[in-house]
Amino acid sequence: MIQAYSCQLLNLEQNSGMTREADDHSGVLKLSAVLADALRQRDAYTRLHSDRVMALANGIGVALGLSGNELHVLELGASLHDIGKIVVPDVVLMKPGRLDDAEMRVMQLHPSVGGDLIAAYEHPRSEPVSKVIRHHHEWFDGSGYPDNLAGEGIPLLARIVTLVDNYDAMAVRRVYQGARPHHEIMQIMESEAGTKLDPEMFKRFVQVIDDPRYAMFKAS
Ligand SMILES: [Fe+2]
Repeated sequence: MIQAYSCQLLNLEQNSGMTREADDHSGVLKLSAVLADALRQRDAYTRLHSDRVMALANGIGVALGLSGNELHVLELGASLHDIGKIVVPDVVLMKPGRLDDAEMRVMQLHPSVGGDLIAAYEHPRSEPVSKVIRHHHEWFDGSGYPDNLAGEGIPLLARIVTLVDNYDAMAVRRVYQGARPHHEIMQIMESEAGTKLDPEMFKRFVQVIDDPRYAMFKAS
């Protein structure tokens, strides 16, 4: 079902008579909306989390002066970064506690599953978007997954999503974890800059999260 929807939308984007820019933007939004809605059917938290990650990632992208095309790839990659969780069983996805080793291995499949899902379609944005999804759990020091990429070997847009994904995951209350206050999250992230997180992206994020335009995404 999801593959059929996304294939149709990508084809719509390719065949439309609209201008290229309007066509691309429309296609991105349609694809994002349909796939994100599919994910919401499984897990409302992940859907809302993805919306916040998309907004904050866009803030960093704008601060970096990324091109319109890069921002569109970032928007789609951020919105769909956890789309691979549609294959994670409920007993793991909804578990109200820490995952054991076997469950963690299942959960850790989601970046590659999601990346492969998007990469399956022939479209100019499929490859860069799939890379954002595949690499959003890589660590800056190379100890993440699935490919143990490090530093600038990790696609820039994926490093942005990793950073805001971490912020939002700590900012929102979950069944197994209470929400942390903003100052505590920033202390943790600062301690992880250079190991888990890209230190340069963290500097940008410090500016973005204190911008009043992003106040609604800021932890209390
Ligand atoms: Fe994820």
